[in-house]
Amino acid sequence: MSSSVVLGASRGIGFEFLRQLSLDPANIVIGLVRDVKTTESKVTAEINRSNVHIIHGDLDSYDSLKARPKRSSQETVLITLHRKQAKLPQESPAEAWTISSPTELVFPKTLTSSASENKEELMTGFKTNVVGNVHLFNLFMPLILKGQQKKVIFISSGHADLDFISKCEVEVSGPYAVGKAATNTVVAKFGAEYGNDGVLFMSISPGVVDTGHFDPTKLTEQERQGFGAFMAKMQKYVPHFQGMMTPEESVKAVVSVYEKASIANGDQGSFVSHRGTKQWI
Ligand SMILES: NC(=O)c1ccc[n+]([C@@H]2O[C@H](COP(=O)([O-])OP(=O)(O)OC[C@H]3O[C@@H](n4cnc5c(N)ncnc54)[C@H](OP(=O)(O)O)[C@@H]3O)[C@@H](O)[C@H]2O)c1
Repeated sequence: MSSSVVLGASRGIGFEFLRQLSLDPANIVIGLVRDVKTTESKVTAEINRSNVHIIHGDLDSYDSLKARPKRSSQETVLITLHRKQAKLPQESPAEAWTISSPTELVFPKTLTSSASENKEELMTGFKTNVVGNVHLFNLFMPLILKGQQKKVIFISSGHADLDFISKCEVEVSGPYAVGKAATNTVVAKFGAEYGNDGVLFMSISPGVVDTGHFDPTKLTEQERQGFGAFMAKMQKYVPHFQGMMTPEESVKAVVSVYEKASIANGDQGSFVSHRGTKQWI
């Protein structure tokens, strides 16, 4: 029996974690989401298992993370994922507005073409990724320390790997990559702090996964070009690259990586792919 807490569980890869981890009825799976009602309806419609529990959790809100679940079993794994999209801070007049990450699929030189927009994206991404995860890890530590598995998994991205960026000339996704790289460092720092307590911290990239973000009909012409160029580079990097994985394939691979990982094996603070290596595709 294990207990897993998944932050960012409303859709995409996070929702697939809920589905796969709850397959064993003995496991308890807790999804932290920003919109509880909508996610509960989706869980009822698509998973419908009594061992899945949805509670409110927003990386941008310390208070929401403070209300952490009381429910847990002896083994606890915390998995944190979210995309760079982030609601603006509560005090903002545009409270419900979502930043759409305009630089995800375009080139870094555009960072200078709309300075305020890109600064906002960098700062908001940093706040959500770095500050949000520091709060999350600290607030959930009592729960993790009580468990037996004691694993904290940050879902990162190969975009944050310096060798990958340079060798494959991956110029797209600047602010996103910066946020992930910074959070990888946070993960390693927590690993250094909590290793003696037996808590394993890891950053794992899920690979290239189809969660609907790259639907060509929804991209601008510039984004389409950026994505096309990125995919062409991936084809060169891994000639057998077949295209994107499904969330099901990706989550199976990621779970297998962290289940095998341990402090004793030297995995503390590491940053690896869904293959458990530095092969990101
Ligand atoms: N898909 C890929 O190819 C790929 C590749 C590499 C890495 N990744 C990483 O894998 C993770 C999941 O990707 P995905 O494609 O499944 O993303 P997604 O479909 O965009 O889902 C992102 C999830 O994060 C949640 N979220 C966003 N901001 C949040 C916040 N402030 N607090 C709490 N939750 C928040 C979203 O909740 P709402 O519904 O409330 O917005 C949603 O559940 C991300 O960390 C992403 O960077 C994905």
